[in-house]
Amino acid sequence: MSQTEREHIVSPTPIGPAGHPWAARAKGLVGSIIDSSTSLLQQQTHDIVSFAMGSPAAEAVPSDAFLEIYQSVLADAGAAAFAYGATEGEIGLRDELLAYLESTPERTSADRLLITTGGMQGLDLAGKLFVDPGDLVIVEAPTYTNGSATLLAYGADILEAPMDGDGLMVEALPELVQKAGRVPKAIYVIPNFQNPTGTAMSLERRHLLLALARKWGSIIIDDDPYGMLRFDGEHIPGFRELGGGDPLVFSVRTFS
Ligand SMILES: Cc1ncc(COP(=O)(O)O)c(C=O)c1O
Repeated sequence: MSQTEREHIVSPTPIGPAGHPWAARAKGLVGSIIDSSTSLLQQQTHDIVSFAMGSPAAEAVPSDAFLEIYQSVLADAGAAAFAYGATEGEIGLRDELLAYLESTPERTSADRLLITTGGMQGLDLAGKLFVDPGDLVIVEAPTYTNGSATLLAYGADILEAPMDGDGLMVEALPELVQKAGRVPKAIYVIPNFQNPTGTAMSLERRHLLLALARKWGSIIIDDDPYGMLRFDGEHIPGFRELGGGDPLVFSVRTFS
């Protein structure tokens, strides 16, 4: 994102009155281009397919099945279904997920799995846990702007790296980092069917990115909402698989 673009999305009008007691962090919050374009699109009367977010077509949502599940949960649990659940996520959901992941290359253990409210909360946690104000964070150019806005909100200095048909041009990173004069604290990537380009990062580049992250001690924020939606072509091993459980890989997934 260019400086001008960043200035453009920083909310130009404060929400509270002048002199409002904002936290320093609130001043750094940036608005979401995607959210404002979504509101704009909702005012249109003609058919528009937005590629800004991974929103499924209405007919792809199994609403009858959802209704059935909702009714059966209420019948079984009654009002208790609305009580607070475990912070790390509903035990039954976690067990189901762990069992499902066992049959995939992303198998993991209960102590490494946290249920979040969508992928965005996972990205927010990544920023909260790993990004201090002024830390360098590499992002793909272009990238999912709600992801980069979250990192900006935590004070990241964003370094944009170029992409081509095989995803992020990882081989360009050492020179970019040398020019920046410091190593990145984190590297934010969408390895499969990247938003918005649709490209998948090649296996060679995934290996190289992992090696660079290990050399620099950088967190790979591995945002992969679309990996399970492959329609053709070969599965490309992801960072969880290639990293063999390396804690430098922080993975965010979503069912949205
Ligand atoms: C690349 C990417 N990451 C994260 C998200 C956010 O996922 P969720 O809607 O589950 O918060 C999206 C949504 O479109 C996305 O495209």
